[in-house]
Amino acid sequence: MKTRLLTANEIDTAAGILRSGGLVGIPTETVYGLGANGLDPEAVGRIFTAKGRPQDNPLILHIPDASWLDRYCRNIPPAACALAEAVWPGPLTMILQRRENVPNAVTCGLDTVGIRCPGHPLALAVIRTAGIPVAAPSGNLSGRPSPTCARHMLEDMDGRIDAILDGGSCGVGVESTIVDLTPPVPRLLRPGGLPLERLQAVLGEVAVDRAVTAQLGSGEKPRAPGMKYRHYAPKAPVVVVTGESLRTARYIRRNLGQRTGVICFDEYAPLFSGCTVEAIGPVSDKARQARRVFEALRAFDSTDVDAIYAQCPGSGGLGFAVANRLKKAAGFQVVDLGEAEE
Ligand code: TXA
Ligand code: MG
Repeated sequence: MKTRLLTANEIDTAAGILRSGGLVGIPTETVYGLGANGLDPEAVGRIFTAKGRPQDNPLILHIPDASWLDRYCRNIPPAACALAEAVWPGPLTMILQRRENVPNAVTCGLDTVGIRCPGHPLALAVIRTAGIPVAAPSGNLSGRPSPTCARHMLEDMDGRIDAILDGGSCGVGVESTIVDLTPPVPRLLRPGGLPLERLQAVLGEVAVDRAVTAQLGSGEKPRAPGMKYRHYAPKAPVVVVTGESLRTARYIRRNLGQRTGVICFDEYAPLFSGCTVEAIGPVSDKARQARRVFEALRAFDSTDVDAIYAQCPGSGGLGFAVANRLKKAAGFQVVDLGEAEE
């Protein structure tokens, strides 16, 4: 199969491919998604094949506005409506009880479904034109960093899917925040593009699932099945160093080997001249770090580095998501030098 690159004025073509059961790469504000008709189990099945995705890892349904919630979910709590009102379209996925019309292929047999209304004009236009909910995981091969531009998605998916709609670089850069609204106290399953503080402002108390901050033991079952898999990892092993940025930079510098790669804040890049360096933004600019983190992780695979050290932002705002992606890429190999500045 030849994968076509579509431009922003080919929305109808993208929508037509989705309606006829095909696979389309779709730009969202977070990362590129691999979309299929979310009501067609065969089309959804093709997503798993194209990504090499484990069969027990459910997909998110993308809808064009909150009025579609009721079509696919039941017992919708008032908190879900309040959140939809406050932050959709935007980088938030809600886990809710599903209706029978949502195929098992999407939910992997769970009685809940993840739903999100993406904050990207092209994604919304494709979904609206197709007139169907679009099932879409991130558009990477399973285990690879998520794609934040059409070229990254093509690297992974060329020849495996029908088309990619090119919407340029993603504005947020990390995937959506996932909150489970089915328990009495809402539970954060994945930190993402919507800061936890924003969720708390609408919901009050939010529990943070253990899988967010630690590697689960082999017997433990995470509530978001995807959180148990090795993810985002470059070929070379990653070690994350947490703490105040000058301390972490000095630590990394002291421990450099012959072919060590470094992910650092812009201010410290000069300390690592001679190394393969990915500077992900100034210490204080977490939005930029979020936009850069997957691109940085991806970049090392075309180099000969045999180990990677990463500086890590503090956990306020988007720093929570950036730190989570770095630590997952590291399999939670962390050197802890104390609290980071925010
Ligand atoms: O920003 C995003 O969310 C992107 C864009 C394309 O929308 N999508 C994305 O999908 O990141 P994916 O499949 O890469 O990650 C979805 C995560 C997985 O960890 C999956 O296990 C979890 O959501 N998930 C999906 N449905 C769930 C459910 N019913 N209950 C718990 N977790 C669920
Ligand atoms: Mg993913």
